[in-house]
Amino acid sequence: MTVTVSDATRATQVLSRPVTLNGLTVPNRIAMAPMTRMFSPGGVPGADVASYYARRAAAGVGLIVTEGTYVGHESAGQSDRVPRFHGEDQLAGWAKVVADVHAAGGTIVPQLWHIGMVRNHGEAPYPDAPPMGPSGIRVDGTEGAGHAMTQPDLDAVIAAFADAAAAAQRLGFDGVELHGAHGYLLDQFLWSRTNRRTDAYGGDAVARTRFVAEIVRAVRAVVSPEFPVILRYSQWKQEAYDARLAQTPQELEAILAPLVAAGVDAFHASTRRYWLPEFDGSDLNLAGWTKKLTGKPVITVGSVGLDGDFLHAFRGQGAELGSIDNLLERMERDEFDMVAIGRALLQDPEWASKVLAGRFDELKPYDAAALKTLS
Ligand SMILES: Cc1cc2nc3c(=O)[nH]c(=O)nc-3n(C[C@H](O)[C@H](O)[C@H](O)COP(=O)(O)O)c2cc1C
Repeated sequence: MTVTVSDATRATQVLSRPVTLNGLTVPNRIAMAPMTRMFSPGGVPGADVASYYARRAAAGVGLIVTEGTYVGHESAGQSDRVPRFHGEDQLAGWAKVVADVHAAGGTIVPQLWHIGMVRNHGEAPYPDAPPMGPSGIRVDGTEGAGHAMTQPDLDAVIAAFADAAAAAQRLGFDGVELHGAHGYLLDQFLWSRTNRRTDAYGGDAVARTRFVAEIVRAVRAVVSPEFPVILRYSQWKQEAYDARLAQTPQELEAILAPLVAAGVDAFHASTRRYWLPEFDGSDLNLAGWTKKLTGKPVITVGSVGLDGDFLHAFRGQGAELGSIDNLLERMERDEFDMVAIGRALLQDPEWASKVLAGRFDELKPYDAAALKTLS
């Protein structure tokens, strides 16, 4: 099946436009979604990791959001193969990643991460560090597997995020993304199931934003005013796909407003399928609602370029729900500003350049074997 010229031109026109996130101009609308790869032994991203990102930047990805990288707090993570964002060797590894991505013409932000109560006892890199979260409750509701964070714990984690953001700017990164999604620490504070605190960090939906807002403020205070601070958040959680922080647009607005006031420059609204409406009565997705309610630039994500329908539609077979036509229509309406691509970019490092040039026939269908290598 051949692609019509108008399909190709339309994709090029819509996706090739630059976009501004605070002081950063991203050359086009395509971002690489953050994806944990576990190819960084000792928490050090090596030359292979730098090439992996640079390859995608050279092939048209406008903004790379790195895999989640642990902030400098002992309980932040539980794998010695996930890159860390503290320590001399680790930061030297990141400096090479930044240099290679910039040399390839791309922009890049690290995704700063603390996993909170997802952590198990006895795991690397700090086996003695305890799991901790807002109330010591796991995402599945289990109690007793860790402890409720004390004020010194909260202060230490806030400082760890600020230190990491300062390091990111020092190393030449173009901004930072805070991982506030998917049931990890920041999201554990936002969610009523995992946050049962009775102090100022718990209570209603607005009170539950306090910890995240304090992190955003602390980050803002150590980076320059034009340095973009992106917050990724989601309704869904690992192990709880149907979870929701907000049942209505009004509830969502109540959660987002204090985060904007704290200094978030852009949101990355994580959904598993970008075409699904978030609330009844409108076909806006979570990113669309986030933009409408905050006025900030927003990145959407979720199964772009993965299924057969998308490829069919690329090949001129009509507008299916998850098709390129649907995506482009939403971007033409300014429902959201950027689209992040995850698995399709693992499969095909040249996904962005092919799409930007309308070479849709060359796209490769996704195969989970792509998860196993860093090619
Ligand atoms: C292997 C893998 C690792 C992931 N790691 C992260 C991560 O570190 N941080 C994060 O916010 N999301 C992570 N995600 C979620 C992706 O960023 C993205 O939201 C999800 O894959 C949906 O996009 P896609 O359908 O284009 O793949 C990961 C996804 C995959 C497949």
